[in-house]
Amino acid sequence: MNSNTTDRVQFPDGFLWGAATAAFQVEGASRSDGRKDSVWDTFARVPGAVLGGDTGEIACDQYNRYRDDVALMKSLNLDAYRFSISWARVRPDAAKGPAGVNQLGVDYYSRLVDELLANDILPWVTLFHWDHPAALEETGGWANRDAAYRFTEYALTMHEALADRVSVWTTLNEPWCSSFLSYGAGVHAPGKLSYPDALAAAHHQMLGHGLVVQELRKRQPEANLGITLNFTVADPVDPSDPQDVDAARRIDCQMNRVFTDPLLLGEYPRDLFPDLAEAGLGGVLESVIEDGDLGIISTPIDTLGVNYYHGEEVSYREYPGAVDGSAPVARTTQAPYPAAEGVKVRNRGLPMTDQNWEIQPEGLTRLLTRLHNDYTGPRNVALYVTENGCAFDDVPDASGYVDDQNRLSFYDAHLRAIKDALDAGVDVRGYFAWSLLDNYEWAWGYSKRFGIVGVDFETQQRTVKASGHWYGQVAKENAVPALRETHPEAAMEVNG
Ligand code: FCB
Repeated sequence: MNSNTTDRVQFPDGFLWGAATAAFQVEGASRSDGRKDSVWDTFARVPGAVLGGDTGEIACDQYNRYRDDVALMKSLNLDAYRFSISWARVRPDAAKGPAGVNQLGVDYYSRLVDELLANDILPWVTLFHWDHPAALEETGGWANRDAAYRFTEYALTMHEALADRVSVWTTLNEPWCSSFLSYGAGVHAPGKLSYPDALAAAHHQMLGHGLVVQELRKRQPEANLGITLNFTVADPVDPSDPQDVDAARRIDCQMNRVFTDPLLLGEYPRDLFPDLAEAGLGGVLESVIEDGDLGIISTPIDTLGVNYYHGEEVSYREYPGAVDGSAPVARTTQAPYPAAEGVKVRNRGLPMTDQNWEIQPEGLTRLLTRLHNDYTGPRNVALYVTENGCAFDDVPDASGYVDDQNRLSFYDAHLRAIKDALDAGVDVRGYFAWSLLDNYEWAWGYSKRFGIVGVDFETQQRTVKASGHWYGQVAKENAVPALRETHPEAAMEVNG
């Protein structure tokens, strides 16, 4: 392990450097050109659901400013832009058939793709980043199996429009969030508090993923097809205490393996079922799994996208100052895990972001190594880090510039952690900073800033932060510079 070193680190030739956003978080124009409400539009209007009552109506206005934003990406030497398509823009009523398509919505993505290609930036398309049409939710949303087939139909609409220019397709972004956090915990749209619905939603999203991979593979055999999952690294507080080990096993199972196992091993984790039964949810997941589903879900993919923000150290014991990284909203919410009652996260004294998320770069090395060894390596599936980043309460100077050495250090440390994984033989092929722009951070509204480019939400002015200039250099040189060149204080800290 050499992630504590401060030397320049060179990445392998062809390593892909990008930045990511999601439609609802940046597009705005929520009523333009035939777009209708997504579940996030309706959820944001529920009193107490989102801090400050913030909505996505304007966001970063990327719908109208995409040309400027692509120019910005170009100036940052990015190889790729990971963005998502708003289902509610493309099939606003969730109606079936050709009549359900809103051509003006489709055209926007076509223009965006053209602009990216004209600037030599790879469009990395995500089909679902949480904003399904509100009309679909009226029929039960993802808790209803029909959503998987509607999703496939919407995906094919976009595929037909873009496949001549788009070669990378991600089906889902972080299905854990759009099922467990959304239908179980009530933290994200549609804000349901039902574990049976959460389990059904997770299964139906994975079914939709598999169906889309099958259909796209038939039509575009050479495409790079994949999914992005969000992972934690769950460690027991005391590895010699069976209770702590059980706590870590449950979190790992209900966040990581509940998706990786069906996806890559073709079965749900065996330990999930007794845990669910013990929590009074026996037979619930089984009741939505139909014959053949797991075969569809485990259709071979090319890429597993890894979103990593932090891990956690867990126990059933109570420790002072427990870590809570969720938005302090007024609405009633509950734990996202259906069968981990009493599990608590210990504050282990790591530095935190301004969102109370621990800063734990070594967790990324361990995560990538584990995924490669247990799942992706033997199946020739490539790993890409599709999101990693941090929220800090930036203080812009009079010109709008933010000298965010804290964010820069975060990126530096995580890129070094990836290099450690590469050196250990892990097949990681690219990295996307979250995020290109400050944007709508879900239940946190605009209160948390993740951008390497700052956004003044009054004027929509974009200003590249220190981290953005630094990242642009990294992308250009395919290397992380020696720490002392860009961040002398950090180098001093590391060196003692
Ligand atoms: C991830 C989401 C992304 C963003 C980051 C901070 O869970 O995929 O949209 O909000 O967290």
